[in-house]
Amino acid sequence: MFQRLQQKWKVNGLQLLLILCTFAIGGSLTGFAGKKLMNFFSIEQRWLWVIIYIILITILWPFSVLLVSVFFGQYAFFKSYIRKIGKRIGIGKTINNRQTTIGNDQKKANDQHEAIPLITHHSSLTNIAIFASGAGSNAQKIIDHFRNSNHIKVSLIVCNKPGAGILSIADREGIPALLIDKEKFFRGNAYMDELKEKKIDLIVLAGFLWKIPDELIKAFRGKIINIHPALLPKHGGKGMYGNYVHEAVIKAGEKESGITIHYVDEHYDNGDIIFQARCPVLENDTAESLAQRIHVLEHIHYPAIIEKILGPAK
Ligand code: GRF
Repeated sequence: MFQRLQQKWKVNGLQLLLILCTFAIGGSLTGFAGKKLMNFFSIEQRWLWVIIYIILITILWPFSVLLVSVFFGQYAFFKSYIRKIGKRIGIGKTINNRQTTIGNDQKKANDQHEAIPLITHHSSLTNIAIFASGAGSNAQKIIDHFRNSNHIKVSLIVCNKPGAGILSIADREGIPALLIDKEKFFRGNAYMDELKEKKIDLIVLAGFLWKIPDELIKAFRGKIINIHPALLPKHGGKGMYGNYVHEAVIKAGEKESGITIHYVDEHYDNGDIIFQARCPVLENDTAESLAQRIHVLEHIHYPAIIEKILGPAK
């Protein structure tokens, strides 16, 4: 049963324990506060007392668990959990719309794959280019996700590192790969012609270590996304990649880390946030063990978020 819950809620054993404690203490607090409040009403009829008590604890319960969840470090989980319940009983729309607005100056991310702005794609086939320099595990998940799609296609892999794992993936998957040259990328035309020729609608950065030239950002404004292995705006910026990020998170004594999927602008790790997901940082974590936990989150969410922002086929 516990394993099923772990899978369902996508949490590890420790987090599950903290969640269950929150449920237990939050529930007791609700009952206690409910009874205290009922003392204010002098209701004679038993049935009326019961009905009012039920209504009262239904209202009090979300506040109690949210309060308790703060002490157990599970606020993000319960916020999303309660929002889902709200949605199911019909009050979710308002809550969701309010909390998932992604404004320019208000970098709020949301723990659910909802209300994500769509990218307009003009033809019936949407072409993705993945830029990657490393092993390419995220790229592989994205390729797998869209393998059978008849309207979204990974049409190009762009890489700057000869021998990188991503190039073998491209080869095995039969996806055209472009090994780019620094001079041409930064001082040439940033490979715009090649991207246009493939009718690329969305550029997905998945472990690409070079900064994207301004020229390319202007041409693809709002159509370049990146995944960062921490909760931006913390632990981002120049030089913050791979294990450097996880080391910084551990050194800062963070209790929580996660992933940030965001639009790319002219500055490192700065564009509007599309989505964040969280995981705990454990006491004995090393950069490697934390990286593993983060990779799991990346693999679950990146392909799904890409599908969301591309929207349905026209
Ligand atoms: C990921 O952790 C991603 O967050 C970062 O680079 C890493 C790429 O890993 N931008 P992989 O090559 O996809 O395995």
